[in-house]
Amino acid sequence: MSEPKKLFIKTYGCQMNVYDSERMAEAMGAEGYVTTEVAEEADMVLLNTCHIREKAAEKVYSDLGRLRPLKQAKPDLKIGVAGCVAQAEGEEILKRMPLVDLVVGPQSYHRLPEMAKAAEKGEKRVDTDFPEEDKFDHLPDRPKAAVRPTAFLTVQEGCDKFCAFCVVPYTRGAEVSRPAERILKEARGLVEKGVREITLLGQNVNAYHGAGPDGDWTLARLVRELARVDGLDRIRYTTSHPNDMADDLIAAHGEEPKLMPYLHLPVQSGSDRILKAMARKHTAEQYLRLIEKIRAARPDMMMSGDFIVGFPGETDADFDATMDLIRAVNYGMAYSFKYSARPGTPAAEKTPVAADVADARLQTLQALITQQQREAQQGMVGREVSVLFEKPGRLKGQMVGKSDYLHAVHVDTDLPVGAIAHVRIVSSAPNSLAGEVVAA
Ligand code: SAH
Ligand code: SF4
Ligand code: F3S
Repeated sequence: MSEPKKLFIKTYGCQMNVYDSERMAEAMGAEGYVTTEVAEEADMVLLNTCHIREKAAEKVYSDLGRLRPLKQAKPDLKIGVAGCVAQAEGEEILKRMPLVDLVVGPQSYHRLPEMAKAAEKGEKRVDTDFPEEDKFDHLPDRPKAAVRPTAFLTVQEGCDKFCAFCVVPYTRGAEVSRPAERILKEARGLVEKGVREITLLGQNVNAYHGAGPDGDWTLARLVRELARVDGLDRIRYTTSHPNDMADDLIAAHGEEPKLMPYLHLPVQSGSDRILKAMARKHTAEQYLRLIEKIRAARPDMMMSGDFIVGFPGETDADFDATMDLIRAVNYGMAYSFKYSARPGTPAAEKTPVAADVADARLQTLQALITQQQREAQQGMVGREVSVLFEKPGRLKGQMVGKSDYLHAVHVDTDLPVGAIAHVRIVSSAPNSLAGEVVAA
């Protein structure tokens, strides 16, 4: 028998891409490909790309450039570009990088196996359709999914919000929710394979409104039904938009113990003027009131957010308003980015903030976030949390897992990967906590 072909996938960008890469690997698996961690061994290299900021998109081209010697040494090597850069740039990629054999967007990757076959015959294809058919109906049923105890599950894709800075509505298309029964089936399948924690994914996951057996389900309903699946112990979801944070979802946080007390709720700015220019369609005050409501339902909720600094027109006063908002919320975790003008978005037409000003603001903001993050971690010392062990730690006899609040926790224990233990937190290091098992 001949050696199976090897597929190397590099994933950029968000968790949805991580999920998509797994599904693409499974689809190629059905064609006899096995995945490899070593690009040099591969018969096919697939870059699953991100277009969100210029740096992310340009990284793809420099990585493609670095594949050139490999392709020269191994002319049969096929190179594919998938994901959001593929969607945004399509044919352009082939023009700029002739070594690329196929380009496939995020909504049509169920056609990847067929495109790979064409590529083997020397035919280059570009597929950036938003096809009528649902790709999920044409993908294999998570055959090899998860030897890990945690998994991602995409429930909603695309975005109709068109924030002034963002490419996602263009690269991922309109908002679509997967039918509830399919999600439940996929979740049960994952649990049978040993998964104990599922993170539901969507660009605007809390806008989920998938068809259920008795009409459309909200995300809250979906969460409550998933919580009934035996063996599924933890449920998370990301990313949410403040305007879709419905009352039934907030209530679920107070009532459903399997729903973890960590919420990523990006706000981008604390200035109403900038929020308006960004087309976020809410004010800073509304966001703060919303967080009060969420904390009323679940007082220990760990908040996470995203911030953009240096959006066109941002003044010192606007930036100060963002700093005030961060102080008011007190985040457990947050991501922050320097504004990057993206082709085709309305904000890209506007005059950018000077780069040195934006850099300085980013540093100031990140210092505050880092301080809040440290304090949140420090505040865990002495508390008891549940930890789901994900992998052995660097030291012998050690396991690493995540707490309910998504902190990484190191524990000395004989318990296996996939175990959930009650752990008392004993100390806090910059990027993780250390704890000891109280009860398995
Ligand atoms: N749907 C999510 C965000 C998806 S993009 C939401 O609405 O919150 C992830 C993050 O990337 C955004 O929250 C934003 O902070 C950042 N981002 C998006 N476009 C950007 C741009 N043009 N420049 C800098 N950061 C950007
Ligand atoms: Fe982008 Fe805004 Fe949609 Fe988030 S809500 S994906 S930031 S357009
Ligand atoms: Fe990037 Fe596309 Fe995700 S642009 S952040 S990979 S949706």
